[in-house]
Amino acid sequence: MITINAINELRKQINEWKLKGLTVGLVPTMGFLHEGHESLIKRAKKENDRVVVSVFVNPTQFGPNEDLESYPRDIKHDEALCSNAGANIIFNPSPSEMYYKDASTTINVLGLTEGLCGAKRPVHFGGVCLVVSKLFNIVTPNRAYFGEKDAQQLAVIKKMVRDLNFDIEVVGCPIVREIDGLAKSSRNSYLSEHERSAALVLNQSLTLAKEALLAGKNDPAAIKNIITKKLDSESLAKIDYVEIVDSLTLKPVDIINSSILVAIAVYIGKTRLIDNFTFTQGGN
Ligand code: PAJ
Repeated sequence: MITINAINELRKQINEWKLKGLTVGLVPTMGFLHEGHESLIKRAKKENDRVVVSVFVNPTQFGPNEDLESYPRDIKHDEALCSNAGANIIFNPSPSEMYYKDASTTINVLGLTEGLCGAKRPVHFGGVCLVVSKLFNIVTPNRAYFGEKDAQQLAVIKKMVRDLNFDIEVVGCPIVREIDGLAKSSRNSYLSEHERSAALVLNQSLTLAKEALLAGKNDPAAIKNIITKKLDSESLAKIDYVEIVDSLTLKPVDIINSSILVAIAVYIGKTRLIDNFTFTQGGN
C-alpha cells in the first residue's frame, strides 16, 4: 500500500489500473480511522480489484465555530489500518492540493439538505458534496462506499450522483457499533470517561423507539416522546434534534406507514454525536 499526496500522481496510477481493465472502489474519509471505516474498506476490497481510501479533513464542510482545527488526525495509524484492511492507496492531499485559492464552484443538493443536520450545519452538505464530487472526478471509481451512520449524507450523495450522472455505484454500509452499542465515530475520542458512558443514552433511546415501533406504535410524536424522555434522563445529554422522516425524501412523516429514518443528534458535553436507524412498517 502506498500513500499519495498529489492529484496528478494518483491519476497516473488510476489510469494504469483502468488500462488493465481493473475495477476501483473509493472510500472517502476524514481519517482517524476506526472499525466503522474499516468495514467500508473491507467491503470495497471484496467488490473491486483495487481500493483507494481518501484521508482528508475537508475544511469546506466545517462551519466557523466547528471543530476543524481540533479534528483528530493520525496518518500513521490510518496507514496501518488501511494496509491491514487491504487498501492499495491512501490519498492524503493537503487543503491547497484539493482547493484552488480562487475556486468559485458550489454544489447544493436542495431539499434533502434542508432538515436534520443540514438545518443545524448550514454549510456542511455543500462542502461534503463539493469534496466528494472532486474525489469522484479525480479517482473515477466504479463504486464508492459510505456509512449508514451518516444517513443524511448517504441520501444526499446518492441524489447528487443521480442528478449529475456520475457513473458510480454508491454503496451504503451498516453502522458499526462498540460492544455496548455506541456508534463508532472519530469524534468519540473527544469524550471523557464519564461522557463516554453518558453517550450510551443515544443508542438506548433508539432501542426503546425500535421496540415501540415493533409493538405497532405508529404515531411519530409518541415515538419522539419516548426518545426525548430517555435522552432527557441523562444530565450530560443536550438534544440537538430528534426527527422521524421518510427515508427517501427526509421529510417529516405524520404517520408511520412507510420506510422511515429515526435520526438524532445529541451533545454530550461539547461533543455532538449522531445516531439513527431505519424502519419499515411490517418489514422488520
Ligand atoms: P468520516 O466521518 O471520516 O466518515 C467516513 C465514512 O465512514 C462515512 O461514509 C461514514 O458514514 C462512515 N462511518 C463513520 N462511522 C461509521 C460507523 N460507525 N459505521 C459505519 N460507517 C461509518 O463522512 C465523512 O468522513 C466526510 O463527510 C466525507 C464523506 C469523507 C467527506 O469529507
